[in-house]
Amino acid sequence: MAEQIISWEFKERWVNFYGKKVTERILRELKQSDPRIIAPNTLYTTRRQLQESLESQGFRFAPETPFNCLTLEFEPFNIVATSEYLSGLLTIQALTSLIPPKCLNPSSESVVADLAASPGIKTCLLAEVMENTGTLFAIEKAKKRIPALKSNITRMGIYNTFILNCDARSFPGLNVKVDHIMLDAPCTGTGLKLKKNKRLEPRILNDVTRQSVIQREILDEAWKQLKIDGTIVYSTCSLEPEEGEVQINNFLARHEKQVQVLPININIGNPGNLTRWTKVYDSQISNTRRIFPDQGMDGFFIALMKKVRE
Ligand SMILES: C[S@@+](CC[C@H](N)C(=O)[O-])C[C@H]1O[C@@H](n2cnc3c(N)ncnc32)[C@H](O)[C@@H]1O
Repeated sequence: MAEQIISWEFKERWVNFYGKKVTERILRELKQSDPRIIAPNTLYTTRRQLQESLESQGFRFAPETPFNCLTLEFEPFNIVATSEYLSGLLTIQALTSLIPPKCLNPSSESVVADLAASPGIKTCLLAEVMENTGTLFAIEKAKKRIPALKSNITRMGIYNTFILNCDARSFPGLNVKVDHIMLDAPCTGTGLKLKKNKRLEPRILNDVTRQSVIQREILDEAWKQLKIDGTIVYSTCSLEPEEGEVQINNFLARHEKQVQVLPININIGNPGNLTRWTKVYDSQISNTRRIFPDQGMDGFFIALMKKVRE
């Protein structure tokens, strides 16, 4: 299956960028299925309460999971049929989804924009961190993806969020300055485990170019709306440097003295790396994080940037 979706061009690039050994690991890991990760909706329950009530129905969990989540080891029936799921006490998600909202760490007074929101897993996590207060704009361009976003936000009992069906590149038109931005950008998704990847067509290198242009345009428009001292978290589930380290490297070059890349305090993944890709790069890239598809996770890239006064 990996061979069908991932063309030789990608494998060659990965060997070039990450080395042969890591590429072999990537190809092996992309074929694995991850366990289901359950995150308690901390607005309405705790991990312990949720675990106890699900265990009383026969669900079993691994002894430990990062980020206060639960790893499902056995389900007597599909967890989405439980009253806990239906009443919004939990989300099912990739472990990597937890990272951007936690990095951003908005306060309960913050004005925050999620610029690529549907289906809204990270929007809900962000609203939880904000304790359902402050103001959250959830922006999604695709009209057909709005119902899923609306449904998740409603199910999770979130009421600090405005859903806007528009292109994130027109965000400055709203004339709102924000404290924090989450851009979980549209991308090629080459880091996603293949079983959950709904894409049928093989990716081509053109997709990388196309997506990285959209990412660049959204980043630049978003930046205009960020307050001084505000932060933006940028993430993709892609293994391509143009959608990760190179994208951020070029962003730093365009906005030079205005950007400080903040360290990401998690013990997962490796520092972002450009040494095999570009000769001259910004040393701040080592504060970004590159996660390879293993340890029960998808491949992921994440950067946290602060807007500073020039
Ligand atoms: C990676 S998904 C977001 C997943 C979401 N953050 C979550 O955790 O559930 C990217 C989303 O961006 C949307 N999108 C693509 N181009 C966009 C644009 N120009 N403006 C706003 N949204 C866009 C896509 O339709 C897709 O829903």
